[in-house]
Amino acid sequence: MSTVTKPVVLLSDGVVALRRPEPADGDYYWAMRNNLALVSSVMGFRLGVAERTIDEWIASGGGVTGDDLLLTATLAADGRPIGYAKAFRVDRFSRHAWVGLSLFDERDAGKGYGTRILTQVCDYLRDYVGLRKISLEVLASNARALSVYHRLGFVEEGRLVSQYFTAGRFEDVLILSRFVGDGR
Ligand SMILES: CC(C)(COP(=O)(O)OP(=O)(O)OC[C@H]1O[C@@H](n2cnc3c(N)ncnc32)[C@H](O)[C@@H]1OP(=O)(O)O)[C@@H](O)C(=O)NCCC(=O)NCCS
Repeated sequence: MSTVTKPVVLLSDGVVALRRPEPADGDYYWAMRNNLALVSSVMGFRLGVAERTIDEWIASGGGVTGDDLLLTATLAADGRPIGYAKAFRVDRFSRHAWVGLSLFDERDAGKGYGTRILTQVCDYLRDYVGLRKISLEVLASNARALSVYHRLGFVEEGRLVSQYFTAGRFEDVLILSRFVGDGR
């Protein structure tokens, strides 16, 4: 269809780039979704998934609807997919959305990529979608994720006690939010 050989980039800070998912990303999403140790901290993914299901899901736009947004994060230098970010339940009237993100491989954690992904997503949602508030849910035990969120200005707005069962125990889930635009 296209003569473009390099993937088109929607956002980039020079180290991490974000673009819409491509069919070639399927292996990365598939590996992540079947890595129980990794996805147990993401919430919502427990059962594993077949490769074909991922291919269909990408072909359908990642299951996002309306103004929702699914982005594959890549290394800007070589285009290697490293994770994804999602903005969902985008409310254009309240100018609010929920976000979620994960790296595909634990070996890429702790290198600043998650911070770069979320920073760009927040800036994009403020500057191009016009949002003023962004929220997310995180397991209270997910210290690394909380470190990123707190550093980027997310503050706790609620705690769902003993909410999510994973790895043999019930965990508290925190709701964190950050105001990114005017109009609080
Ligand atoms: C959570 C996640 C997105 C963060 O991305 P990342 O690239 O690893 O994070 P960064 O490297 O940008 O930052 C990690 C921060 O956590 C800190 N950290 C690392 N391990 C930590 C720990 N055990 N306890 C507390 N802080 C920790 C680091 O010091 C760093 O903070 P600093 O830069 O202020 O020093 C990523 O680790 C991930 O995908 N994890 C698995 C899935 C997941 O938990 N997703 C989020 C669901 S809500």
